[in-house]
Amino acid sequence: MTPERTQVAVVGAGPAGLLLAHLLHLSGIDSVVLETRSREYVEGRVRAGVLEQPTTDLLRAAGLGERLDREGMVHAGISLRFDGADHRIDFADLVDATITVYGQQEVVKDLIAARDAVDGRLEFEVSDVVVDGIDGDAPTVRYVDVRGAEQQLECAVVAGCDGFHGVTRAMLASDRLTVYDRTYPFGWLGILAVAAPVHEELVYTRHARGFALSSMRSPQITRHYLQVAPDDDLAAWPEDRIWAELQERMAVSDGPQVTPGPLLDKGITAMRSVVASPMRHGRLFLAGDAAHIVPPTGAKGMNLAIADVWLLARALTALLADGNEGPAAAYSATALQRVWRAEHFSWFMTTMLHSTGDAFDEQLALAQLRYLVTSRAAATSLAENYVGVPYV
Ligand code: FAD
Ligand code: PHB
Repeated sequence: MTPERTQVAVVGAGPAGLLLAHLLHLSGIDSVVLETRSREYVEGRVRAGVLEQPTTDLLRAAGLGERLDREGMVHAGISLRFDGADHRIDFADLVDATITVYGQQEVVKDLIAARDAVDGRLEFEVSDVVVDGIDGDAPTVRYVDVRGAEQQLECAVVAGCDGFHGVTRAMLASDRLTVYDRTYPFGWLGILAVAAPVHEELVYTRHARGFALSSMRSPQITRHYLQVAPDDDLAAWPEDRIWAELQERMAVSDGPQVTPGPLLDKGITAMRSVVASPMRHGRLFLAGDAAHIVPPTGAKGMNLAIADVWLLARALTALLADGNEGPAAAYSATALQRVWRAEHFSWFMTTMLHSTGDAFDEQLALAQLRYLVTSRAAATSLAENYVGVPYV
């Protein structure tokens, strides 16, 4: 085996790794992306769906806006549903910005197509990825390729974009990292179904029986979520029970109701907030879920991953093209400022909209919701966070 050289070895082909490789390519920096899963799996994985304004601005500026502009659904607000009524938060009016509903797997497909278009190295179905030498300036990445052959990359930088269960954060000795962790007593049961969305915008519902969310992927395909127990068994949720529960939690006296339809996908995700700090260790830079996760209630997970790599691409370009260490030295502290803002917002949305079954929690949450929908100042704060604070 002859070692190969690249400037940046990117571990993981989720939104973070793929966008980083694309932005580096635009700056003339060479990279190789390694992914354990197959292309079909990565392109079909149903996850996030809401793009912040700074995310869509960046994707467009990076030449990735064509299908996004054609198929993405621009929303100027969301509804908060509680006490059996809808209350709209009007982002366009409050903060002059919008969000775009466009599935994460569509972003991933666009990024893989962009990689293919420039013949960029992207290897699927690799295994046994091992990173060495991050404390020097010539780290290596060993792996087994799709044919079972051992390979080695020599590089200047390793980008750990391998998600929450990846190997790059896990390889770090625990005394190098401070890990902040909050586990919630909630999980989300998510479904994708052939059914009209409840409303043309997202509806976030607080109900004594638990949270419910109506989102979408197109005017014919809905994405609904239900608060369940974090260790709930999917087998305990046959289709009829899911629809009955959605209808009960989302019932309103005069407003759009849930329409059932055939399921295309369903799954349960436990909810956690985790931040591993710092995000740089010598020549290993962590980005996206590899460094931090949020509960999905604020729709921030993928957007944070994208904000990280925008910053990281600039830092690595300064380091590798100009020999300027400054932005790379600042990467972790700068990224973590946005990360903690999003951690707070996601925690805030989660505690306000989910039910713990505790009567005091219930009254606090309802007081916060009533304040949000009657105070322009409070609504503006939610809107500013939801559409995404501008990059700095
Ligand atoms: P990922 O998308 O996780 O990508 C990491 C990639 O690395 C994966 O393709 C993985 O296969 C690969 N990988 C892992 N280990 C290795 C290895 N050793 N070597 C090489 N490759 C490796 N956010 C929302 O806003 N709304 C949602 O509804 C929502 N739902 C979610 C549901 C689930 C089940 C999960 C796990 C996350 C969800 N998120 C959601 C969060 C959002 O999807 C993530 O924040 C986003 O995917 C982060 O992108 P990423 O590129 O950092 O990580
Ligand atoms: C989604 O459409 O998948 C979605 C929307 C809003 C969220 C989380 C997920 O807060």
